Formats: sequence, C-alpha cells, structure tokens
Amino acid sequence: MMRVDVATLFPEMCQRVLDESILGRAAKRGYIETHCHQIRDYTLNRQKQVDDYPYGGGCGMVMNAQPIYDCCQDIIRQVEEQGRQRPHIIFMTAAGQRFSEETAKRLAQYDSLLLVCGHYEGMDERVIEELADEEISIGDYVLTGGELAALVVADSVLRLQPGVLSQPEGYQDESHWNGLLEYPQYTRPEEWRGKKVPEILLSGHHGNIDKWRREQSLERTRIRRPDLYEAYQNEHNQNQKK
Ligand code: ADE
Repeated sequence: MMRVDVATLFPEMCQRVLDESILGRAAKRGYIETHCHQIRDYTLNRQKQVDDYPYGGGCGMVMNAQPIYDCCQDIIRQVEEQGRQRPHIIFMTAAGQRFSEETAKRLAQYDSLLLVCGHYEGMDERVIEELADEEISIGDYVLTGGELAALVVADSVLRLQPGVLSQPEGYQDESHWNGLLEYPQYTRPEEWRGKKVPEILLSGHHGNIDKWRREQSLERTRIRRPDLYEAYQNEHNQNQKK
C-alpha cells in the first residue's frame, strides 16, 4: 500500500486536496496513505522564519536548508517506523526533469514517496544535494511554489495504485497511457443541441467500435500532438523491424 508524504509551508491546502474525491475515498478505504507536513514547525529561530536573502544578491528570498532538512529527517523516521524502506525523495522545482505519464508509472513502483515543495525564489541548493533522489518539474512554466506540482505528481501516481480507480482497466484507455491521446467519449442523451452520438457507438459491434476508437485516437494525436504522433510511429516501425 503506497504512502506519499508532502513537506510544504502549506500542509492544510495540500491535505485538503488529497482528502477529496477519488484519492480521499481510496485513503479512507485504506488503499493509500497521504501525510502533509509543515516545514515551518522545524525552524530553530523565534520568528519561525524559513527563508533569507540570497548570497550574491538578486531579488526574492531563498528557503533555508535546515528546516527542510529536519522536516524531511522526521518524515523519513516516521516512514521507517512503519516498517517501510526509506522513502524515494523528490524535490519539486522548475529546474527538474520534466514529468510525464512514463515518470508516473515509474514512481508508482515505490513503496513510499516524499515530495518536497519550495516556495519563494527557491531552496538552498545544499539541501537538494543532501536529500534529493531526483528533481521534477511538471512543465515548462513557473509556479509560485512546488505545492501544485507535488499535488499533480501525487495524483497521477496514486491513481495507478490498486484499489484507487473503480475499474482497474480505467487508466489503460486514457490519454498518454499508450503514447496516444484518448478517443472522444459520449453519454446520454443520444442527441444534444442537435448533435448526435456517432452511430457506430450505438451499434453494439465491439470489434468495429474498438477499430473506430483506435482510428480516432491516432487521428487526434496526429492533428493535436504531432510530436507524440511521430514518437508513436517511430516506436511502431521499430517494433515491426524487430
Ligand atoms: N516550482 C515552481 N515551478 C515549478 C514547476 N514548473 N514544476 C515543479 N515545481 C515548480
């Protein structure tokens, strides 16, 4: 059963998201475990300050190494006390490796993850060197903090855990699972604002429906994401050569 810990300056915000909807239900039923921790609780100064001016100058503040380090050490201890291995530690930064479904599948294999969120301009590099197994960015844009990124990673990894989705095959049809975008979906009514559901989906002929969905999936990917389409085609041509 996977456990995910988040070290952050906004633990209530993070926990609230993780306790809602599908992940919240899975946690209540004991299929996953999530814990958010306040980095500020580990400061050693009376003002509980967690950041300071950057050496070398420049704008913004940098998070101190010490409270992040002590918070993570405490989390590692709690995880190990549960009889688990030391968690796989990921720092959320815009300078990390780009996240994808492939990364989610790889991370889903760990028994526990510790996601560390920076805020302000960044974190003292030395705490990253000391603790990080990897650094992950969720995309080529800058957020005000790592919290939303950590929630994205937690969500996409936890939904792959047994017991989280009601139908285990649920995720295999989704966009990006096989490197392609998902085919279009329809539900009742059969006609809405003059638009009809494609006839073939009402036919009950599963062979034809599968074929139509595969074609739609390929065509969508070719038009919307030529980068994914090319990668998919290269992969398939390679497989044929093998
Ligand atoms: N922190 C700030 N921007 C980020 C991003 N794009 N991904 C992960 N963490 C971040």
